Amino acid sequence: MSAEPFDKRDGWMWYDGAMVPWNDAKIHVLTHGLHYGSCVFEGERAYGGEIFKLDEHSARLKESARLLDFEIPYSVAEINAACREVLVKNSFTDAYLRPVAWRGSEMMGVSGQQNKIHLAIAAWQWPSYFDPEERLKGIRIGNAKYRRPDPQTAPSTSKAAGLYMICTISKHAAERAGFADALMLDWRGYVAECTGANIFFVKDGVIHTPLADAFLNGITRQTVIELAKRRGFEVQERRITPDELPGFQECFISGTAAEVTPVSEIDGIHFQPGQVTKTLFEDYMAEVQPKKKAA
Ligand SMILES: Cc1ncc(COP(=O)(O)O)c(C=O)c1O
Repeated sequence: MSAEPFDKRDGWMWYDGAMVPWNDAKIHVLTHGLHYGSCVFEGERAYGGEIFKLDEHSARLKESARLLDFEIPYSVAEINAACREVLVKNSFTDAYLRPVAWRGSEMMGVSGQQNKIHLAIAAWQWPSYFDPEERLKGIRIGNAKYRRPDPQTAPSTSKAAGLYMICTISKHAAERAGFADALMLDWRGYVAECTGANIFFVKDGVIHTPLADAFLNGITRQTVIELAKRRGFEVQERRITPDELPGFQECFISGTAAEVTPVSEIDGIHFQPGQVTKTLFEDYMAEVQPKKKAA
């Protein structure tokens, strides 16, 4: 990954309907999205010039905004077209895309009813979320202090910037302790997810993953479940308690950025990245490749 700071790079960004030079894509300090967290975003990856599951990401972006009581003034088709335009304008084929929507600066206060809704889309080259060598060995994960909130206390299915506050704090603490990420429980104490990825376990060939009732039901998670079923694996979506963890043989995480990444340890509990993880890692990498159009 380039060491250049993100506010000083070459390239183009789509910003409120126009393509602007990267370094001109600015907001004012008095922006509602910055002060009150009225901001939602997406993380997408393009492989070979095509953005994987673009429709699903654009639809989730609009739904995330709706859950925060604002409407993005572009249709899914318009957002899709803008994402593709960003890739082409920057001459990227393999890249990470970051659409972000937020309330602007017309009003300052908890109420943000009159604020303009902005949408920007950036893209950059981002080969792999974790160090590639680390990835093959499996990453080490620590335990997070914070828990995913009760859906009655926060719009937990929205990919809202504010919900990442506890993820950043948890990830920092994990990194300070020498881990690559942190496992978060939900408010009831069930295993939930990592700070930017969903989690899966394997026991005797059966795949177990937490029910997505208090966290983001990742697009990668849904893809992995589909791929696993296609392979004939049994997949159990259920509540998982932390005391079950030592009984699992394999563990991996899934996410647009993380893709499928094996896990070798959760705070002293060891897993062996094995055949099921390897199969799904390979199936996922094959699935994201652009499909050849029928002649
Ligand atoms: C907190 C959190 N959970 C899960 C995911 C995985 O979601 P997806 O597979 O849609 O990228 C992400 C990444 O976006 C995330 O940030």
